[in-house]
Amino acid sequence: MNPRAFDQPDFSAEIEAIESRLTDLPEGLQAHIHRSREVGADLCEIHAVDPERVDLAIAAHDLYWATDPEELLAEAGRRGWEPDLVERSDPQLLHGPVAGLWLMQEGGVDDPAIVEAVTWHTTYAPSVGPVGTLTFLADKIDPQKVLAHPWLEEVRDLAYRGRAEIAVEQYLEKLLVQLISEDTVAHPRTLEALNYLRLGRQGLLQGSIST
Ligand SMILES: [Fe+2]
Ligand SMILES: [Fe+2]
Repeated sequence: MNPRAFDQPDFSAEIEAIESRLTDLPEGLQAHIHRSREVGADLCEIHAVDPERVDLAIAAHDLYWATDPEELLAEAGRRGWEPDLVERSDPQLLHGPVAGLWLMQEGGVDDPAIVEAVTWHTTYAPSVGPVGTLTFLADKIDPQKVLAHPWLEEVRDLAYRGRAEIAVEQYLEKLLVQLISEDTVAHPRTLEALNYLRLGRQGLLQGSIST
């Protein structure tokens, strides 16, 4: 794909700064990020979305995944994020928001599409744009995750057939059903996002839900 097809700044310095942090992460996590970046490149080509923004977002999305829960809560507070009830009960949900804040505060990235992609890559959120949608999917359909969880095959196939929003809808539905049936807490933002996608698909979005 011709990178000039997208009117974009050069993010190579920012990606370099992120990559210098990636080497401190556990090897398995580094491998996941690498595989997701490859999936992200495929999806950008299929969906004609800016590959550099998606690559940067995927490179940064799990910078705080391996951070200790107590430290994550403290880091979120330091960076100005007020954890809600569900995030306090499961601080790992904060690893996306904290990475998004790091990107803005220290990573030199203020591109809203990239920051939202990183921030919402775990719960998703209403009105996430194309960069966030492909970042979300590339994370979820890492080939190792698909192997471990065969229900992800359908999500992957939809994403690779150019139906990204339906793929996200399928994923969110299955995730919510699974969490609720297992007596696990689900983040309300995930249900809001699923409702938003469904209302959009049904042509009922305007004025129906606050974003
Ligand atoms: Fe993550
Ligand atoms: Fe991830």
